[in-house]
Amino acid sequence: MSVQEDAFDTQTVDNRAARKRSLRLLKSLARPLRWQLVGLAFMVIASQLTLAAGPWLIAEGIDTALPALLEGREAPAIWVSAGYLLITCLATFFTYTLVRTSTVLGQQMLLELRRRVFRHTQRLSLEFHEHYTSGRVISRQTSDMETLRELLEFGLRAFAGSVLAMVFTAASILLLDLPTGLLMLAMLLPALPLTIWFQRASREGFRNMRTYSARLIVSFVETFGGLRAVQVFRKEKQNLEDYSQVASDYRDATLRTIMVFGIYQPLLRLIGAATIAAILLLGGYRVLHGNMEVGVLLALVLYARRFFQPIDEIANVYNSLQSAVAALEKISGLLEQEPTVKEPEAPAELTHARGDIRFEDVSFRYAPDAPLVLKPFDLHIPAGQTVALVGQTGAGKSTLAKLVSRFYDVSGGSLKLDGIDVRDISAEDLHRNVVMVTQEAYLFSGTVGENIALGRPDASLEDIRLAARAIGAQRFIEDLPDGYDTDVNKRGGRVSAGQRQLISFARAFLANPAVLILDEATSSLDIPSERLVQEGLTKLLGNRTALIIAHRLSTVMIADRVLVVGGGGILEDGSPQELIARGGQFAALYQAWQDSLKEG
Ligand SMILES: Nc1ncnc2c1ncn2[C@@H]1O[C@H](COP(=O)(O)OP(=O)(O)OP(=O)(O)O)[C@@H](O)[C@H]1O
Ligand SMILES: [Mg+2]
Repeated sequence: MSVQEDAFDTQTVDNRAARKRSLRLLKSLARPLRWQLVGLAFMVIASQLTLAAGPWLIAEGIDTALPALLEGREAPAIWVSAGYLLITCLATFFTYTLVRTSTVLGQQMLLELRRRVFRHTQRLSLEFHEHYTSGRVISRQTSDMETLRELLEFGLRAFAGSVLAMVFTAASILLLDLPTGLLMLAMLLPALPLTIWFQRASREGFRNMRTYSARLIVSFVETFGGLRAVQVFRKEKQNLEDYSQVASDYRDATLRTIMVFGIYQPLLRLIGAATIAAILLLGGYRVLHGNMEVGVLLALVLYARRFFQPIDEIANVYNSLQSAVAALEKISGLLEQEPTVKEPEAPAELTHARGDIRFEDVSFRYAPDAPLVLKPFDLHIPAGQTVALVGQTGAGKSTLAKLVSRFYDVSGGSLKLDGIDVRDISAEDLHRNVVMVTQEAYLFSGTVGENIALGRPDASLEDIRLAARAIGAQRFIEDLPDGYDTDVNKRGGRVSAGQRQLISFARAFLANPAVLILDEATSSLDIPSERLVQEGLTKLLGNRTALIIAHRLSTVMIADRVLVVGGGGILEDGSPQELIARGGQFAALYQAWQDSLKEG
């Protein structure tokens, strides 16, 4: 994670808008469950009330029922004992339902959130994913969700329970005996600055822990995402050192945070113990002078113990609350990211496009402050034309192709498919009509057949076979251990880069789009299989619009038209023969190719 990204994450923590945003998210998650949540709140109150009644009943037992028993009257003792048993049973029941309900509700909200985050992250444009690293996306779905789970399942209930316990206990003490109540409140005074210090220190500590744990994930993802490059360039040692550094930073941050707890909790217990001692001493004298009953003193001591326990719990929960708030801020931030490539509000109907592409005064830059990659230009590609894009590396060929499939929106002008601005076409219609095949030829886990069928999910096995045959892929597929049913992730099912490209070709063939874009899609094929593919290609391209980016001139020569891209625009435009005759850049390229063929 770069320094800038860190700044982004910490900034959101301090941001008031982030708080509002998180609250909105929490509300939207809670809304469908509001009645269950109200029930839960009642249950928290009820369980704390029953718990608070315990010491009071004990006092009653000692001060009233015991003397009565000594006088031979049994009823009060039986009543008090039965009452005590009853409230204990009730408290147990409430606690059980509370834990159960809050776990179920928490999990329900979490499931909804997980799905929302996944759906949204998937919808976000390429541009977003280029700057929001995959490590951060993973953190949102893993560690952030985990902290939220703690909050939703247990944190909120424990927090509310503890606060209520303190309030009820304090009220009980004040009602039983005012002087003791005041004494206890006075003992809270030293606890207050201690707690404030603890809040600050632990917040800081947890923030550091989160930052380092996010860095750990980023470092991990980067190393293993690029493992081949790591091994080829012997970066293992360096990576291990970097990773160890971050890991030990994480350890230090964790230790520091735990130390804060180590100081706070014992000191708090000390204050609690001192209070109990003071109450005992004060109460003892008052009992001695007949100003207080023994049962009341016992109840006061029991209450005093219970008063300080929740502070401990609150302190504990407070931290998971802090991390949960931060996690919520990050997740809600992600959820409120708008895709830069937006769905049109009123999409134009385009079920089957002809494939007429028109660039009108189109310009493009990757970011508002970046230079223009494509300067304003016009270009018309009639339906059915096969166009090859050539030009030096970095000239903007892929950029031009990505505009047609709307991975990015144009920065100026407009790009039209069949006369309709692509921004007015729904993503579904656009991607049915425009298919882009790239060098990476990504395969999903599943069988070879399933991977081909991705082009048209309702395709029959026969359709899949036909597509593979048309593209010249059936030979190698039939040679795989299970043919079309071979799992691409299993041993033996592993396919080569060229075979992957053939599969993605068959996939595109099956999709049967009006516009086909091939970006270096033939780069991994050997010459014979490329020739095979070219037969399939010619058949495939026959009636559709195609944009082909290829370094190999044999592929370029099958095009109706060649565009030489360079200097932020189109330098040459014409049929391969015309351009060769004209003697420009393409002619030079062609000459070099011819020479190399002669030498070969
Ligand atoms: N995602 C991106 N963000 C910012 N700039 C980019 C991005 N992708 C490409 N560029 C820049 O845009 C320019 C054109 O890149 P493009 O990928 O279109 O070139 P190309 O012609 O396809 O090159 P190649 O033949 O190497 O594939 C380059 O200068 C590149 O640095
Ligand atoms: Mg490219």
